[in-house]
Amino acid sequence: MPRSVEYHSGNFTISPETKFYTNLSAESRQALTDYLEGTSLGSVPFAESATGNNGIELNLCDSSIVTGNEAYRIEIDKKGIRLSASTETGIFYGLQTLLQLLNNSDNKTLPALTINDSPRFPYRGLHLDVSRHFFDKEFVKKQLDAMAYFKMNRLHWHLTDGAGWRIEIKKYPRLTSFAAWRPFDKLNDWWVGGRTFCEQDDPRAVGGYYTQDDIREVVAYAAERHITIIPEIEMPGHSEEVLATYPELSCSGKPYVNADFCIGTEKTFEFLENVLLEVIDLFPSEYIHIGGDEASKSSWKTCPRCQKRMADEHLNSVDELQSYMIHRIEKFLNDHGRKIIGWDEIIEGGLSPTATVMSWRGEEGGIKAVKAGNQAIMTPGKYCYLDAFQDAPNTQPMAIGGYLTLEKVYSFEPVPDSLSTKEAELILGVQGNVWTEHIPTPEHYEYMIYPRILALAEIGWSPSEVKKWDNFHTRALQAVNI
Ligand code: ACM
Repeated sequence: MPRSVEYHSGNFTISPETKFYTNLSAESRQALTDYLEGTSLGSVPFAESATGNNGIELNLCDSSIVTGNEAYRIEIDKKGIRLSASTETGIFYGLQTLLQLLNNSDNKTLPALTINDSPRFPYRGLHLDVSRHFFDKEFVKKQLDAMAYFKMNRLHWHLTDGAGWRIEIKKYPRLTSFAAWRPFDKLNDWWVGGRTFCEQDDPRAVGGYYTQDDIREVVAYAAERHITIIPEIEMPGHSEEVLATYPELSCSGKPYVNADFCIGTEKTFEFLENVLLEVIDLFPSEYIHIGGDEASKSSWKTCPRCQKRMADEHLNSVDELQSYMIHRIEKFLNDHGRKIIGWDEIIEGGLSPTATVMSWRGEEGGIKAVKAGNQAIMTPGKYCYLDAFQDAPNTQPMAIGGYLTLEKVYSFEPVPDSLSTKEAELILGVQGNVWTEHIPTPEHYEYMIYPRILALAEIGWSPSEVKKWDNFHTRALQAVNI
């Protein structure tokens, strides 16, 4: 729902004679032509000069006229449509609104109106876990198309976890010739059957990974849709697949024993830094997600190397040992011009001033982070975990648990009352998280996210004043029937 919509009398119908006209560069115009080809505006050609009547003008204007990186204005009267924005992103979002109006119109007739719009939050995210089940690049692109339509701008790509490594790393080929493949068809059979991996050419192998070319292709596809992909490389926990492949990086030195990297050995840092070098080469995102959640830290308590590290670095607890590791990786990424996002556990043992916290175990992590002057992204399980049941469990496919209806998602307010105005500005936005333990197919993933992701899209974009459940409910159900 846009920030402001004013209806006027009359309407405008897009006809076969209607043309786009724009002051955008020839290159941007071509990029838009290519993009629009797959949409309901795809048949409208560009004219070389102003069209007078019957045109759709894409007007790149001064930021004093339309202010904000993602803001736009749409004016429709009986002569045509004018879309103004001071950035190409604003033009892109205005086009999404036009597409939405068209998809809800009869015979391409649009009401005369003025829309002034800009997002409430700069971060509007969807998360995709491709470790528990692998989803191919075409599926990822499909999600990016849908995200753009709903003005979401961050895909958090959970590329590594204990159930499989999914990104080609040239320096460590075994991550994708071995750690990306399970000798079981079903995740649950693998889980109870020993949680082992197998060679890619094993006839039982189930899994997959993205080549570096695949990644570049998807990142470029996202950029064309004004979406940043934030890759997540998990550490120090959720790393069984790496330690099965390179057991020397674990405290026991044996495969299939530990889930956490050994923080005592320098080999761990060498490995992670080499992986991250390839990751930052592939992803232009300013932020790299380094995980940080749910490390058991138990092997560190008895590992002589971890204990020596703690003594040498004067660390009093395994929480501080985790912080030591996160801070070192953060410094490495900062030195390469990047910043980190981590799950809220990165607060324990000492949070560095420049890390962004993804608050998932509730809102407390996010509150603590912004009160310390850090940025936070709100994704509490109670409202944002789209792997939970969305209706009575006995009517639903298997899910992780929980009970999260569309109405409950929509009721989420990302800025807790306890924050000052200045602290509230450090809340970057919201994200829907989708863990795929019980989501083996593309159809099932979409079943889980729709319509709930639309609630998060609207929470991320629309000012709270325009949020109205009954109205949203009707629109959300219409949208999923498109
Ligand atoms: C998480 O759900 N473990 C971040």
